Amino acid sequence: MVSGVTLKIQPDAEGLAQTAADFISAQVREKPDLSILVATGNTPMPAYAELARRVQAGEVDFSRATAVQLDEYLGVTDDDPRSLWDWMRRSFVKPLGITRTVRLKSPAQFEAAVAELSGLDLAILGLGPNGHLGFNEPPSPPDASTRTLELTPASLESNAAYWGELAVPTGAITAGMDLILAARQTLLLVTGAHKRDILHAALDGPETPEVPASFLRRTALTVIADGAAWT
Ligand code: PGA
Repeated sequence: MVSGVTLKIQPDAEGLAQTAADFISAQVREKPDLSILVATGNTPMPAYAELARRVQAGEVDFSRATAVQLDEYLGVTDDDPRSLWDWMRRSFVKPLGITRTVRLKSPAQFEAAVAELSGLDLAILGLGPNGHLGFNEPPSPPDASTRTLELTPASLESNAAYWGELAVPTGAITAGMDLILAARQTLLLVTGAHKRDILHAALDGPETPEVPASFLRRTALTVIADGAAWT
């Protein structure tokens, strides 16, 4: 594996949640006005719940941090259960007592808002089974900007698990690879045997637009994975 990447392997989801919460808490203690790009998806939820517990216990304070939306489907309203904005608010913004947010509505608005923050301090990311970051679908080169796009069949299939009977919207908007790769720290959370091959491709394979996550090695990257995803 490329040097410079910090890899922390945890035996289970609980260990991953604690380790990720430790990492994120340390960042906000160091810089209380941290700007954080926030992934939804299943993987980070236990870590967010642990952060919420710590906030409740007065162990850490996110009140000066800014939560920045990573991705969204096109054409969903705020009260639609598939709204990723609402998922981020429910799982991260509200329980952590965050009052400042940047919503992803259009590329120009988003890029201006992130520039206003002087960029992203921390990007919390999950790993798509197809190697996507946010909705930067393969192929996505490192300079891919914030944009709207059509989801790939692989992402339509993996996202279907979130929404039960509801169809996965086919259009999406994503924070660009350029902004993600410029984050001062990146944190990639990965669980499950079904992510093992793509995690090895991201960390050990060639850097390629076919595996957008492979470009994370250019960043100050910390990977926290469970034993099933990294063996
Ligand atoms: P997951 O999604 O955390 O639900 O596995 C990750 C992703 O598709 O980016």
